[in-house]
Amino acid sequence: MNINRTYNNLSDKVVEELIKIVGVEQVFSDDEKLEAYGQDETEDFIFKPAVVVRSENAEQVAAIMKLANQHHIPVTPRGAGTGLSGGALPVCGGILLSMEKFKNILQIDTQNLQATVESGVINYIFQEEVKKHGLFYPPDPASWGSCSLGGNVAHSSGGPKAVKYGTTRDYVLNIEMVTPTGEIIWTGANTLKYSTGYNLTQLMVGSEGTLGIITKIVFKLLPLPKHDLLMLVPFSSAEKACEAVGATFRAGITPSAMEFMERDAIDWSMKYAGEVNFTVKPEWQALLLIEVDGNEMDLLYKDCETISAIMAEHGCDEILFADTADQKQSLWKIRRKVGEAVKSNSVYKEEDTVVPRASLPVLLKGVKEIGKRYGFKSVCYGHAGDGNLHVNIIKGDLSDEVWERELPKGITEIFELCKSLGGTISGEHGIGLVQKGYLPIVFPEYQMELMRQIKRVFDPAMILNPGKIVF
Ligand code: LAC
Ligand code: ZN
Repeated sequence: MNINRTYNNLSDKVVEELIKIVGVEQVFSDDEKLEAYGQDETEDFIFKPAVVVRSENAEQVAAIMKLANQHHIPVTPRGAGTGLSGGALPVCGGILLSMEKFKNILQIDTQNLQATVESGVINYIFQEEVKKHGLFYPPDPASWGSCSLGGNVAHSSGGPKAVKYGTTRDYVLNIEMVTPTGEIIWTGANTLKYSTGYNLTQLMVGSEGTLGIITKIVFKLLPLPKHDLLMLVPFSSAEKACEAVGATFRAGITPSAMEFMERDAIDWSMKYAGEVNFTVKPEWQALLLIEVDGNEMDLLYKDCETISAIMAEHGCDEILFADTADQKQSLWKIRRKVGEAVKSNSVYKEEDTVVPRASLPVLLKGVKEIGKRYGFKSVCYGHAGDGNLHVNIIKGDLSDEVWERELPKGITEIFELCKSLGGTISGEHGIGLVQKGYLPIVFPEYQMELMRQIKRVFDPAMILNPGKIVF
């Protein structure tokens, strides 16, 4: 994590210019603010910026970027700070550019099933708003209550519904962005089809604030499905649970969520989430949380019957069907709180492994075997239907020496296994700061250099979000 880049320090003159752009009440340099904006949800990292600036429109962002280029000062854009790979950490100091004031849902176009939003809108608020029009925005990361849509686009965030509906990438039609040199552009068009030169819209998706600052987004929406059914399926073997996942899709069913939780993930989350009304039997090693959705109840019941039969073939215990909205909510609460629960429990590292779905049992087995060899415990959970397994490696009582020196070797082996199975090192959390050292596992040097060249074209002075992905 050594970032050898030299920038100029922030002078009083530059601070004065920043104040001219956004107003004095939007520029902060008190310690409390620097500390708060110097961290996201990635482990316990903290990198204080020299100044925090809150802008509220693209013109201000453009002026800030022009100023930063002129004085060679790094700028780190930040949405809501819920990232898990350190994308929003201002590792080189400089200006932390907060996008939290970009809060407006500008248009819900019910004629075209589209919406235009500013990038700081919170995911859940957007979902609820489009729902009022009978519309549906599927990407639902665990942090949907606090993460911003701009951050979601910057990471192509997923969530449980990705298994049926795809990730953020699949809903972005067009982006208004400020380039690192301070130009304001729209990347594409508000159309469902696009074959008009290089696709800058999709290049921006997943670029983690390194190629530009997202100010507005046009999203595609779907009609809201009328019904859903939720079932919880216990297994005494985690591997068997993973095997049942692939079998479900092969039987022609595409659930709207198919989530996996290992025993510790359930126990820790239930403790963390508070009183939850169901009993976990001692022999259960893993649970699948499976949802189906659609407009015809009869078809959904039929899907559930087929799923139940497949689960039984894989040796599940008694399936629990969530009968009420409250039950559904508490089951989802347990699932969505796993990440936070693990974080509150121990020092940990979260890896966002992803493989083709049918290889999930091999991945899980491999992770456990590698853990045994290196002496670390892991708690696994995630989006089984996508082959996306979040591997939380727990520090527990491992020495700092082992944690710092040996663990990266174990993580390397896990990622090499992903690659050998046709997978990769991140499905939805991104590379940011913490995974960049592992990127050469999946990309040869030539490909890394191609990505560096793309970065240079957008950002010749290399001032936007330095220290992330390939720089
Ligand atoms: C989840 C986040 C951590 O799936 O991606 O809970
Ligand atoms: Zn996830």
